[in-house]
Amino acid sequence: MAPELILGRGSIDGILELVPDATESILIVRGSTSFEASGARGRLRLSLGGFGLTEYVHSAQLPSAEEALVAAGELAAPDLIVAVGGGGVIDTAKLIAAALSNDLDIRSLLDARFSNAIPIIAAPTTAGSGAERTPFAVAYQDGTKYSVEDPSLLPVGAIVDPSLMESVPSNIAAAALFDALAHALESMWAVRSTPKSRLLAKDACEQILSGFSQGGSSTASRDRLAFGATLAGAAIAVARTTAAHALSYHLTSEYQVPHGAAVALTLGAILRLNADCDDSNCVDPRGSAHVRSAIREACDLLGVDTPLEAQRALRALQVDLGLPQRLSEVGLVAASQRQRFAAAVNQQRLANNPRRLDAVDIRDLVEELA
Ligand SMILES: [Fe+2]
Repeated sequence: MAPELILGRGSIDGILELVPDATESILIVRGSTSFEASGARGRLRLSLGGFGLTEYVHSAQLPSAEEALVAAGELAAPDLIVAVGGGGVIDTAKLIAAALSNDLDIRSLLDARFSNAIPIIAAPTTAGSGAERTPFAVAYQDGTKYSVEDPSLLPVGAIVDPSLMESVPSNIAAAALFDALAHALESMWAVRSTPKSRLLAKDACEQILSGFSQGGSSTASRDRLAFGATLAGAAIAVARTTAAHALSYHLTSEYQVPHGAAVALTLGAILRLNADCDDSNCVDPRGSAHVRSAIREACDLLGVDTPLEAQRALRALQVDLGLPQRLSEVGLVAASQRQRFAAAVNQQRLANNPRRLDAVDIRDLVEELA
């Protein structure tokens, strides 16, 4: 079931519509600065003043099972969790929601050995992750990225209020927007893509690219970016991510590259590689012609004719947004670092990419981006 969604400027004031009946106690999971800076604190105080409120601040750089379990040990289980923040905050709220409802340790939380969690309403303060629309939470543990997935982690309510997203620093906003664009594009070509995910992805792409083309600073363009990002979240909830995401996690955990910037580094090259899908390397049971057609549609959405032009268009967008374009810019300067990066890619995580990428493909891609 999709979360109940309220959209638009000021929609945070409608949160009571989403609060389940019989709710008495609410835990607000929030970021360290965005809650105040976005104005969410003042707005929620007015709407939720009648409930018993407690707060948990997620201030670590990345969400982790360890943090969620420590938090759950210190907090009383509420009737509802309201997550207000970026993707890391919403992911943390999901992990805490599971940890508060079940007797879990790190392993069982990472393996999603649970089937219920405290209901969540999510209000992103950054347009990008789409976590308010997905049933999974990213968790990092000992340098490895896990995707904790269970239907109970899908928020019961999502509030996409662009007025909460104005205070986000521009470098964080830029990376998060590229993440949203990657969700949309990867939802076009993923093995698990469906007609529904491609429809959502097209809408998402159009909104995001139109928001960019309008400069991203006017109210109208910011609204488009926010709506596009949440559509992309809904698309990725169906299609799941592909090679650009699989490759990104090492850069985030080892080099602290913001998630969207890490995805951006390889997205164009992955698009181009997937365009060369043929019967010898195709993983998608619908066949290589289907994959090439999906890539053509992605090129159309980007307003270009060829995969190479699409890669260049994505690179131009990285430049416009001030994101790094080469691995050397994010700290991978030595050949040994690039080799470790290439070796860290887990083949299992590449299973949703429509074209098989073997060790040589990955090594060549990493060298191309050096
Ligand atoms: Fe992402």
